Amino acid sequence: MSTQNAIQLSGVSKTFDGFKALSDADFTARWGEVHALLGENGAGKSSLMNIVAGLYGPEGGSLFIDDNPVKLKGPKEAAKLGIGMVHQHFKLVTPFTVARISC
Ligand SMILES: Nc1ncnc2c1ncn2[C@@H]1O[C@H](COP(=O)(O)OP(=O)(O)OP(=O)(O)O)[C@@H](O)[C@H]1O
Ligand SMILES: [Mg+2]
Repeated sequence: MSTQNAIQLSGVSKTFDGFKALSDADFTARWGEVHALLGENGAGKSSLMNIVAGLYGPEGGSLFIDDNPVKLKGPKEAAKLGIGMVHQHFKLVTPFTVARISC
């Protein structure tokens, strides 16, 4: 089994409207490893994985894929690098507005 890092996040930070969701977060997974990311509601688990999946851009820190530094422009770029994500909430259909239909 390879000991090469598959994913490495180093010193990652992410803020939403002034609220610090991630502060100096580190995470490393080697090829062949399975990890469980545990934390209370709102701890930042999804935010961290959304950064790996290219959905959120981090304000600080670095992301390495296969030990190469990357700056993902979006989820398609992440997919090309072999990163897929099973989302906690449905993402395929955006929220619908409630429209009143008059007949
Ligand atoms: N798109 C967003 N806009 C504003 N705030 C956000 C957004 N995404 C996450 N947050 C906030 O960032 C913090 C971390 O949220 P995140 O969803 O990453 O946590 P989590 O660990 O996945 O929580 P849960 O266990 O509930 O899934 C929370 O306070 C959340 O409200
Ligand atoms: Mg979550």
